[in-house]
Amino acid sequence: MAKQTYENGLFITFEGPEGSGKTTQMQLIADRLREQEYEVVTTREPGGTPLGEAVRHLLLTFRDEDILPEAELLLFSAARVQHVRKVILPVLKRGGIVLCDRFIDSTTAYQGYARGLDLNVIDDMNAFAVCGRFPDLTIVLDLSVEDGIRRLSGRYQGQQVDDRFESAGHTFHSCVREGFLDIARKHPGRVRVVDANRPVELVQADLWWEIYHALN
Ligand code: TYD
Repeated sequence: MAKQTYENGLFITFEGPEGSGKTTQMQLIADRLREQEYEVVTTREPGGTPLGEAVRHLLLTFRDEDILPEAELLLFSAARVQHVRKVILPVLKRGGIVLCDRFIDSTTAYQGYARGLDLNVIDDMNAFAVCGRFPDLTIVLDLSVEDGIRRLSGRYQGQQVDDRFESAGHTFHSCVREGFLDIARKHPGRVRVVDANRPVELVQADLWWEIYHALN
């Protein structure tokens, strides 16, 4: 059977704090869309290209000196341009669906709200890095900081956390969460908030509802 396609493709991003279950939920949505014969590409940020994966490794693990927030913003944005031009735009151009685990709203929440960089600068940088193509739909999987920490500690089972972001403190993560909720308030047409503190199937049902409407 021929694949179902869209004239300009469909670009959906999944955002939210650490431990919100984005990756699992995104994979379930991808399986469901593929069963319906859509062309679906799943990808993530930072990452998605060889350069992006190298920058990801640097961003998550570099400890030789502090990375300044401005440098962090530029590194995420450099990885993004490469990702958008080399992976995302070609899929959208041929009518496919791109599901991306984190994108511009993570930059706004983490480098803007949590690191404190000027939100106008971040908006300009995000607009530059997306090369003219913003997401059609963004799902924010919302979770309290306490629940996020609880889920992550289950994942690490007492081992030390090396990730520069996951190991940041409570204040940082509550700024991230507030950031995502604020972004959703500012962009009600594009961004939907889904309560992630529920069983996987219930979260998935809400996500599917949002995606079904984006498809039709
Ligand atoms: P990752 O392991 O992918 O986090 P998660 O599993 O929670 O999705 O690590 C990516 C980290 O990078 C995450 O802590 C959020 C952070 N990040 C930013 O700070 N800015 C950005 O623009 C992006 C895309 C991610």
